[in-house]
Amino acid sequence: MSKKIYLYGNWKMNMTRPETEGFFKAFAAELAAPELSAAVGKTLEVAVFPPFTSVVTAKNSADSLNKAIAPIVGAQNVYFEQSGAFTGEVSIPMLKDAGASHVILGHSERRVIFGESDELIAKKVKAALSADLIPVFCYGETLQEREGDKTSDVVKRQISALGGLSSEELKKIIYAYEPVWAIGTGKSATSAEAQEVCALSKKLIEGLGAAGPVVVLYGGSVKPDNAKEILSMDAIDGALVGGASLKADSFLKIYKSYAGI
Ligand code: 13P
Repeated sequence: MSKKIYLYGNWKMNMTRPETEGFFKAFAAELAAPELSAAVGKTLEVAVFPPFTSVVTAKNSADSLNKAIAPIVGAQNVYFEQSGAFTGEVSIPMLKDAGASHVILGHSERRVIFGESDELIAKKVKAALSADLIPVFCYGETLQEREGDKTSDVVKRQISALGGLSSEELKKIIYAYEPVWAIGTGKSATSAEAQEVCALSKKLIEGLGAAGPVVVLYGGSVKPDNAKEILSMDAIDGALVGGASLKADSFLKIYKSYAGI
């Protein structure tokens, strides 16, 4: 139980500014528990990814907490160009100015609903890394692909899109395996299924030349009641949580149920 756990919350298109402040208030109250506050920054790394409009609020709220327990604040998307005529997009300098240190890229909702390609995602990852914004790179197969026995091919294709990156860049990325059929469906992958693909991912990323071991999270219907089984798998370093991350208590309960506190 001594490995470090990454607990990352993707708020998706939820959480206004007042709701964000409410989350942080509840978060601080939860962190008053010594077992939990002792873990943060040591065996637990917490990050939240609000929608763009709440990033500044989240960062200000995080900065008002004791530094030792403040979560990382990230964003859910970014465009690769620096500035200019790209209506509706947000740039990397803007995100950094808002206080984000991380950015989710390649989420299946961006791939499926907004048609983002492997190529576009790779450009965004490269641009983020060049500006020291840490990408949380998401990938994973659809139900149809899993049922057609295509999981490894799809994951291989998605990960190899990062092939142009240097060893150091590959190492800096946080990877998140999120099978599309498990997202928001209440139907998590079994711990064995998640372990298998996360282990394969590590091999593939190593194969691309990553400088040392990389962090791979699992995402898809992670809840307090399935967290222990999933997080105990040795190829899984943490969870990227959607629905259960919107409330500080259910979010942190995911770590508590793993750690038995
Ligand atoms: P859920 O935890 O709501 O299934 O969402 C997972 C996810 O997409 C996190 O990025």
